[in-house]
Amino acid sequence: MNIVVVGSGIAGLTAALHASEAGHAVTLVTKSMLGDGCTPLAQGGVAGVYGPGDSAVRHAADTLSAGAGLSDPEAVDVLVRDGAARIAELIARGVAFDRAADGSLLLGREAAHSHARIVHAGGDATGAEISRALVAEVRRAPIEVIENAFLIDLVVDRGSVRGIRMLRDDALADLESDTVILATGGAGQLYTHTTNPIGATGDGIAAALRAGAAVADLEFMQFHPTVLAAGPAFLISEAVRGEGATLLDDEGRRFVFDSHPDGELAPRDIVSRAIAKQAAHGRPVLLDATMLGADRLAARFPTIDRVTRERGFDWAHEPIPVTPAAHYLMGGIITDLDGRTSLPGLFAVGEVARTGVHGANRLASNSLLEGAVFGARAAAALGASGRFDRLGDLIPEPEISLPEPVEGCEPFSRAALQRLMWDQVGLLRTDDGLADALVTIHSWRTSASAPTTGAEHEDANIMLLAEATASAALARTASVGAHHLTASPALIGA
Ligand code: SIN
Repeated sequence: MNIVVVGSGIAGLTAALHASEAGHAVTLVTKSMLGDGCTPLAQGGVAGVYGPGDSAVRHAADTLSAGAGLSDPEAVDVLVRDGAARIAELIARGVAFDRAADGSLLLGREAAHSHARIVHAGGDATGAEISRALVAEVRRAPIEVIENAFLIDLVVDRGSVRGIRMLRDDALADLESDTVILATGGAGQLYTHTTNPIGATGDGIAAALRAGAAVADLEFMQFHPTVLAAGPAFLISEAVRGEGATLLDDEGRRFVFDSHPDGELAPRDIVSRAIAKQAAHGRPVLLDATMLGADRLAARFPTIDRVTRERGFDWAHEPIPVTPAAHYLMGGIITDLDGRTSLPGLFAVGEVARTGVHGANRLASNSLLEGAVFGARAAAALGASGRFDRLGDLIPEPEISLPEPVEGCEPFSRAALQRLMWDQVGLLRTDDGLADALVTIHSWRTSASAPTTGAEHEDANIMLLAEATASAALARTASVGAHHLTASPALIGA
């Protein structure tokens, strides 16, 4: 079969390698250079079951618990069951995970994990190492790679996906295929503050929406609690808190215990909200890693150590300012356990997919694992007779009727949309704020001219996703996981 894979993070690279090794003719299309995207920025690692007393059952239980009751237990079971084979595969493909003197894998701890189970590389450079190894494998494989090609749309013929339309060198071109595997990642660029790279504009989900694929859970955007609050967003891995760093309010108090008995190691949505509530009252939040000592910080977190020093902070001797930032989209294109979507001929893997693994809040370090597990499963399912049968599990989202347009709304700019999403469709939401945001985004979207350049297509995708996200958030009338409604902004601190 002819397969087009779009996206070159861990999910796309894994799917492309497996599909090629199974004898398919694979073309890998990527928005910038091979291996760019979120994967190389991942610090913490990959969740794996290696520690004493740990088990796949415990990993599943932690994943389900973080997901706030909305994860699909079958998908979680697949994740933890296939996980060991995928980590072994990464090692076989040359990923040099950090090891102890006896050769065993070193395991980090992260929030909401009952055991130390985070396999990492280069201390805090896990994604970069995985990307390096997989890109090298793809370069050696008989895979055609097309770089700097922007996904414009899926080509749909008589109800089936038959290829993609892309923008390359300022010209539109169609690429035919028997099957398309979307691995285009998430949409952190919907928000002012994000850990995602500039290209994370939700292009795959937007194309899937336009083609009529079923999506779900877009209201669940995960905000990472700790990004350095000085200069461009820079992630301070959860593993730093896993090693013992604490979060302090402006009086030096460990305030997260007010929200959860696990304090800094509570599920990510809870920690992020606790920080956002401080920020809503104008109180800065500091991450204190000084107790770990300069040598340990430099050895375990070399990337963070370098960047914080470049930004003028000596984190071995002083707490550093942190803020939450949009990090990972739990929702996306609905898939079955093999990556099939509701559109024949279309698979989705990695962050662009909504496999059901993450529910309302993803457990740290499950995303690289999910990309590897479902990337491989999608490739194995190519040409098999299975049929997508997932929609029956999902509660349909109610139709929203749009409120009256507001007078004199600010003209569209990407920054204005990101600000609106950050303020009204972010960590702390109100019904009124969501409704106002939806009206503004809808009016921006419906008055925009047809896109021609890459930047205009990105804007169109961002507007479409922002509207779908605000709409999904408005439809979910109870707080759960990353979707948190407050009665009114005045009660945010309550
Ligand atoms: C981190 O290192 O804190 C990020 C890990 C993740 O998002 O899974």
